[in-house]
Amino acid sequence: MTRRLSGVIGWPVGHSRSPALHGHWLARHGIAGAYVALPVQPDHLEQALRALPVLGFAGCNVTVPHKEAAFRLVDHVDRSAARLGAVNTILVRPDGTLEGRNTDGEGFLKHLQASAPGWNPTDRPVLVLGAGGAARAIAGALTDIGVPEIRIANRTDARAENLAREFGAPLQAWPWADRDGGLAGCSLIVNTTQLGMDGYPALDLALDRLPPDGVVSDIVYSPLETELLADARRRGLVAVDGLGMLLHQARAGFAAWFGVEPAVDDALRQAVLASASP
Ligand code: ATR
Repeated sequence: MTRRLSGVIGWPVGHSRSPALHGHWLARHGIAGAYVALPVQPDHLEQALRALPVLGFAGCNVTVPHKEAAFRLVDHVDRSAARLGAVNTILVRPDGTLEGRNTDGEGFLKHLQASAPGWNPTDRPVLVLGAGGAARAIAGALTDIGVPEIRIANRTDARAENLAREFGAPLQAWPWADRDGGLAGCSLIVNTTQLGMDGYPALDLALDRLPPDGVVSDIVYSPLETELLADARRRGLVAVDGLGMLLHQARAGFAAWFGVEPAVDDALRQAVLASASP
C-alpha cells in the first residue's frame, strides 16, 4: 500500500499544532500515512513546494510566514484563496501541478455554527476586531452567508479602511477608538487581533454594550479561555473559543490527502491540547 504523505511548511514551525491534529486523525482512521512538520526558510519556499510531487506528497499545509508567497507560487487557486491572496492548504494534482486553497474562513464558520447554533447571520451587524489575514478570511466568510453589516475596527485605522474598500459592502471601517460603540446592536463580535494571547495585554471591550443574545468569538487559542471569553461567559453570553477554528480548517486538507472525512470532537481537542508545549 502506498503511504500517503503530508505536512505543514512554516518558519519556524515547531509551535504548530497541525502534526498532533492530523496525527490523531491518521491513528484514529488507521491510515498508512504521515503528517510532518517541515521547517522551510522563506528563500527556499519555491524549491520546497516544487519538491512535493517529486517526493510523493499528496499536499501540505502552509503557515506563517509563507501563506501569501505560496499563493503566488502555486499553479491553481480556489475562490477563497483568490479573494484572500493567501493559501493555507495545497493539493498535488495527478499531473503534478499544485492547487492552493484557503480553508480559514470555512473553518471559522463551521466552528461558530457548531458552537452557537442559535446565531442568525442575517439579522444584525457583526463587529470584527483586527484587519490582518485572519480578519480577511472571517469577513469574507461572513459576507458569503449574508451578514448585512460587518464593522472592521483595527488599531491602525487605515488598514481597516483599506480592507473595507477592497472588499466593499457589507464591510465598513469602524474607528478603533470607538470599538465599544461598535458593539451596539451586534449579533456577534470576533477578536482576530493578538490581544489576549499569552504575552499580550487583554482585549479591553465593554461587553455590556452587546445585546444579551450576542455571541463572543476569539480566534486566540493560547490560552484557550482568554479574558474576553471569560468575561463573556460571566455575563451569560455565548463564548466561542479559537481552537475550534484551527481544528475545522484542517478537515478539508485531510479529506483531500487521505481520503477520509475526519470529525472534530472532544477526543481531537484533547489530543491537540495535550500536544502544547508547557
Ligand atoms: P493575522 O494574519 O494572524 O491576522 P496580522 O496580519 O499580523 O495577523 O494581524 C494582527 C492583528 O492584530 C492586526 O489587526 C494588528 O493590528 P495592526 O494592524 O494595527 O498592527 C492587531 N494587533 C496586534 N497587536 C495589537 C495590539 N497590541 N493592540 C491592538 N491590535 C493589535
